[in-house]
Amino acid sequence: MNTILITGCSSGFGLATARYFLDRDWTVIATMRAPREDVLPGSDKLRILPLDVTDADSIAHVVDAAGPINVLVNNAGVGMFNALEGVSMDMVREVFETNTLGTIAMTKAVLPQFRQRRSGTVINVTSSVTQQPLHLLSVYTGSKAAVNAFTESLALELEPFGVRARLVIPGRAPATSFGDNARARTGMNIPQAYGALAAQVFAGWQQSPQDVTHPMDVAEAVWRAATDPSCPMRLPAGADAVAAAKAA
Ligand SMILES: NC(=O)c1ccc[n+]([C@@H]2O[C@H](COP(=O)([O-])OP(=O)(O)OC[C@H]3O[C@@H](n4cnc5c(N)ncnc54)[C@H](OP(=O)(O)O)[C@@H]3O)[C@@H](O)[C@H]2O)c1
Repeated sequence: MNTILITGCSSGFGLATARYFLDRDWTVIATMRAPREDVLPGSDKLRILPLDVTDADSIAHVVDAAGPINVLVNNAGVGMFNALEGVSMDMVREVFETNTLGTIAMTKAVLPQFRQRRSGTVINVTSSVTQQPLHLLSVYTGSKAAVNAFTESLALELEPFGVRARLVIPGRAPATSFGDNARARTGMNIPQAYGALAAQVFAGWQQSPQDVTHPMDVAEAVWRAATDPSCPMRLPAGADAVAAAKAA
């Protein structure tokens, strides 16, 4: 029996990945900050559990309640688009707490069972901006680039125990709630000095939306990372991410 625990399943990539694995008869533990039963099809292979990856008690509780799992997907994440001068250090910390420390804390919490069973896979979802830097994303990019480096080093220390760590690296996905969530959380208080640059970036997004990433691209990449032991460390997900990986 294969069991996968996915963080951030309320929408976007996490939700698509949960559906994808359910369709393939895996047991799915779909975690959400505010659990909602209605976003996924009812199934005796599905459990929906509460999890906030920035809360140590919440992490301990979910790992205990989940029982043995085979795959952990650290997908939960928050975005932030702004000049560094436009954000407070509290906002910077929030991004790193979720994207970086949340990923590290979840990984640390499942490793004892993986190491003892000498099997298990950790899949960390980062972003193609770590390979192809874009304007006004410095904090977000830093939070995800740290996860790339963390995962690649961790993979080395886990290998002797038969435990794998892999990276799924999506491109820009306008179809998910990611941008709206980021705007709702941090506002759009871009300092005036950076206003023209921000307008230029927005105009570019409007003009070149052909190559983007779809949630299904991420679900497929996570599937490959979970089921193909010979898959590469970095799996780009989405046409734009594949292009960025080739150019890097
Ligand atoms: N969309 C893109 O353009 C893009 C591109 C590359 C990489 N990514 C990465 O892909 C991942 C998924 O993004 P998405 O596009 O699917 O965005 P999304 O629709 O906004 O989903 C993000 C998920 O993370 C959850 N989350 C946020 N903070 C959390 C916390 N403290 N604890 C637990 N869950 C939390 C959200 O839950 P709530 O509903 O509770 O907020 C939501 O379920 C993120 O790591 C993101 O950085 C996104």
